[in-house]
Amino acid sequence: MNKPLAANLWNEYTRPHADLREAIERLERAGELRRIRGADWKLEMGTLAEIVYREDSPPAILFEDIPGYPKGFRAISGATNSAKRLALLLGFPVPSHPLDVVRAYRDRMKTHKPIPPRVVKDGPVLENVFKSNIDVLKFPAPLLHEHDGGRYIGTDDLVIMRDPEQNWVNCGTYRAMVQGPDRVGLWISPGKHGRQIREKYWKRGKPCPVLISCGHDPLLFLAGGNEIRFGLSEYDYAAGHRGVPYEVIESELYGLPMPAHAEIVLEGAMHPGETAPEGPFGEFTGYYAGGRTPQPVVRVERIYHRNDPILGLACPMVPPSDFSYSKCVMKAGMIWDEVERAGLSGVRGVWVHEHG
Ligand SMILES: Cc1cc2nc3c(=O)[nH]c(=O)nc-3n(C[C@H](O)[C@H](O)[C@H](O)COP(=O)(O)O)c2cc1C
Repeated sequence: MNKPLAANLWNEYTRPHADLREAIERLERAGELRRIRGADWKLEMGTLAEIVYREDSPPAILFEDIPGYPKGFRAISGATNSAKRLALLLGFPVPSHPLDVVRAYRDRMKTHKPIPPRVVKDGPVLENVFKSNIDVLKFPAPLLHEHDGGRYIGTDDLVIMRDPEQNWVNCGTYRAMVQGPDRVGLWISPGKHGRQIREKYWKRGKPCPVLISCGHDPLLFLAGGNEIRFGLSEYDYAAGHRGVPYEVIESELYGLPMPAHAEIVLEGAMHPGETAPEGPFGEFTGYYAGGRTPQPVVRVERIYHRNDPILGLACPMVPPSDFSYSKCVMKAGMIWDEVERAGLSGVRGVWVHEHG
């Protein structure tokens, strides 16, 4: 584990990876991945994520042979949760300190240009398409903490919606709790772009179409979980880091763009006023956040998935946790820029902890 990488091996990583699978391959070659077999969706995956994190230089975890699920069905936790993994995925030099990644991010943003996605007709996500007998629990959605209100299929997800007025596509990371075989509850806090977009549909009395991608290139998760400006699609922003556009396929029912190389995508709509009790959920603050409250529900009408799909997991833990990497490097870079712009000199570093 964590052997130093030869420079030529690292250079290879500065080329964009194609999808989650190629990213996993690279993480493993860099000693940044551990395979764990036989962990149950019920509390074991969440507990193991926390135990592994308390080690020195904790790796990402690929859960395999999940009891009760077909052999190829897997889940990955913590793909972006270390300075080294972030550098690998973003194509930055080998960091010797987490602030090196913040510095590299600030440098990147001086020349970063968004790149819109390319629409294609086919891709691995269409290997399996379900139009009836919808059951989101065909995937090993975990119960992460003992008092969580349910199994969460979306923690490292990408909730994809189109603004009905301005026609741009937002992709946000919002937790998604299983409410039933074809029902998923979304907790989107006030002010989030996804919430603003949903309100626009509902004000017109219309259902809000949505895709929930539950396994994808980790760069898309990084974009989805960080505050990108309103009107700029996370697809374009993340592609600006990759240097090549994402390939997307228009979904069958609502024409929303899904990553052609996504692992699992749910398609449906949130109908005005339709809610179900959601939460609580053990959040990155170290507490169960939000209690149990009525939250909007997605009626899932289609499931698309690759063969042997890999569910993405972001398991919140008691802080300090490695969540700070995926949530905070970008924020730290932005704050550092602002602090310098405000005229403060001699800043040695800026860091943001996971609770913001
Ligand atoms: C792992 C992770 C989980 C998150 N869960 C939620 C959530 O359940 N609800 C929410 O409103 N924001 C959540 N966030 C924060 C949003 O993803 C973040 O604020 C993002 O910028 C929202 O996208 P938007 O700006 O397009 O609305 C989460 C972030 C991360 C990294």
